[in-house]
Amino acid sequence: MVYEPNLAIGLICTHHIITRSLDVAIEHCRKSLSSDGLDETSKRGFIDYIECIKTVLTTHHHLETQMVFPYFRDKIPDLPVDKLNKEHGQIGMHLIKFDDIIPDLKGDPLISSLKQLNEALTGINDIWHPHIDVEEIYLTVEKIGNLLDEDEMIKLIESYRKFSMERYTPDYLVIPFQFYNLPPAQREIWAQELPENTQKHISDEWKDKWLPMADFLYHDVE
Ligand SMILES: [Fe+2]
Ligand SMILES: [Fe+2]
Repeated sequence: MVYEPNLAIGLICTHHIITRSLDVAIEHCRKSLSSDGLDETSKRGFIDYIECIKTVLTTHHHLETQMVFPYFRDKIPDLPVDKLNKEHGQIGMHLIKFDDIIPDLKGDPLISSLKQLNEALTGINDIWHPHIDVEEIYLTVEKIGNLLDEDEMIKLIESYRKFSMERYTPDYLVIPFQFYNLPPAQREIWAQELPENTQKHISDEWKDKWLPMADFLYHDVE
């Protein structure tokens, strides 16, 4: 029985990050739509935040579809892999719309673009919650701990970390975005899987780059 380290912890942390960031982005869209559109002072940070949502969500789905589900498909026979992969595709159809919306938001954004963003985010959110509820029933810390010995667990965690880090670009936005969309108690747990010195990068040389997103991160972040 192996509970620590456990790859389910990283998956669940990523669910928390995405859940919170979708809530924050939808709330900001609605607030902006009910005033005159995007506020100039927070526009850059908001666009960075939206781009990070797309990167983190896409990476998480690719990790599950390409690595997690194929590995656990036979080990957890009830895991509804086809249904979950289909939902990744449905969320992906909404994420593709960001490619047209974001360039418009970067210029002189139209209210219609903000409405499209709100619709895409809401569409993702509607699929997201029941989707992760199912994943978290089948991929629990206990189940995975019982299935893998420690060496296998460490090997898998390392391969997931490598897969994700290669896709977290730009790192100076995507990594702080994840770190500070977690409450303080979970940050340390999530950061255990990061390369050494990453926390130092977040608080030092990357800080000027991610700081425009601070309005959307946990309020203890300065
Ligand atoms: Fe998923
Ligand atoms: Fe997931």
